[in-house]
Amino acid sequence: MQRATITGWGRCTPEGVVTNDELATVIDTSDEWIATRSGIRQRMVSHVDNSDMATVAGRHALAAAGMEASDLDYILVATCTPDRFIPAMACHVQAKLGAVHAAATDTNAGCTGFIYGLNLANGLIATGSARRILLIGSERLTAYLDLERRDTAVLFGDGAGAVILEATDGSDGIVSINVGSNGDLAGALTVEGAGSSWMDVPTPVRVVMDGREVFRNAVVGMAAAAEQALDEAGWTVDDIDLLIPHQANLRIIDATTKRLELEDHQVCVNIADYGNTSAASIPIALSEAIDQGRVAPGSKLVLVAFGAGLTWGATAIQWGERTEPEARSAAALPPSDRTGLQILVDRQNARPT
Ligand SMILES: CC(C)(COP(=O)(O)OP(=O)(O)OC[C@H]1O[C@@H](n2cnc3c(N)ncnc32)[C@H](O)[C@@H]1OP(=O)(O)O)[C@@H](O)C(=O)NCCC(=O)NCCS
Repeated sequence: MQRATITGWGRCTPEGVVTNDELATVIDTSDEWIATRSGIRQRMVSHVDNSDMATVAGRHALAAAGMEASDLDYILVATCTPDRFIPAMACHVQAKLGAVHAAATDTNAGCTGFIYGLNLANGLIATGSARRILLIGSERLTAYLDLERRDTAVLFGDGAGAVILEATDGSDGIVSINVGSNGDLAGALTVEGAGSSWMDVPTPVRVVMDGREVFRNAVVGMAAAAEQALDEAGWTVDDIDLLIPHQANLRIIDATTKRLELEDHQVCVNIADYGNTSAASIPIALSEAIDQGRVAPGSKLVLVAFGAGLTWGATAIQWGERTEPEARSAAALPPSDRTGLQILVDRQNARPT
């Protein structure tokens, strides 16, 4: 059976930067509290639809793979913040890209969404159901934030990352992948007010999280999933060239690094710049790592995530030969006429009470 390998990559982050100090002008918090508890220094706030960010990230990934949108036969979007519940956000992306031959659907596994997406894409390629897949992790989490909930409002940000997956007969590609979930802990991280269960009890949309419960489970779950991916790949920790963990909290990343006994230079960390962008965090970090020359031909990567569900997943990926894009796209978001902070404040003022 053939497996999937990554042949294109790209990202899109909106221009609306909001620093911790700016956030502290509208929330009872401080740069010191946020930075020491989470490692976050700033986040980006989108002025456009989530599907617009996803489309720009997709265009960069297509160019990097040397592909046209019409070459795609599948678009898979990992998101928990789709533009709307119907249709799937992937359908909007398909239309915006002009990917006329592609099937399109979404997957939602919270912050583990990108790993679930890789798992699904790998299966589609292994069975021959699809040959050229665009997988995008894209989130507009700031849409769900309530600035009066300081425990969650400081943690999340917006952005998108994308990859192209194709079949390979070589030693490159997804060598192993595992995903799991524990729905008994669904209440530890949830969004109230959006979804059919809320129709009879209209409730403002907001993220509700038991931070300590999530933290405890994430520390154990991330390391366990990564170790399983290593075992199933026949690799050891010493084989890892780069660990790309979901960027939820610097302390969770540090604990995972320590459990796996990795050195700091083996781990991608960019949470300070973006906050938690859920399903987008790993493909954004992967795309940055490639641009920074941290991925070499044949590099052994481990991607690992944990999130709402609770869900978890990890994959061992051997990189192919190419670390330079085939071509570059000039795709970009339109400029914003408001600052990131203004977008957040306007939205808060418009919230139903
Ligand atoms: C959210 C998290 C940073 C909170 O850190 P914590 O050490 O557990 O903090 P606590 O929730 O115990 O709160 C400690 C105090 O800080 C206060 N606090 C909460 N948010 C605050 C904020 N933004 N600014 C200032 N103070 C804040 C609390 O009110 C509490 O005050 P109290 O002791 O007077 O009641 C941490 O639990 C965490 O990172 N959890 C994992 C979250 C995550 O990664 N989720 C996504 C998974 S994909």
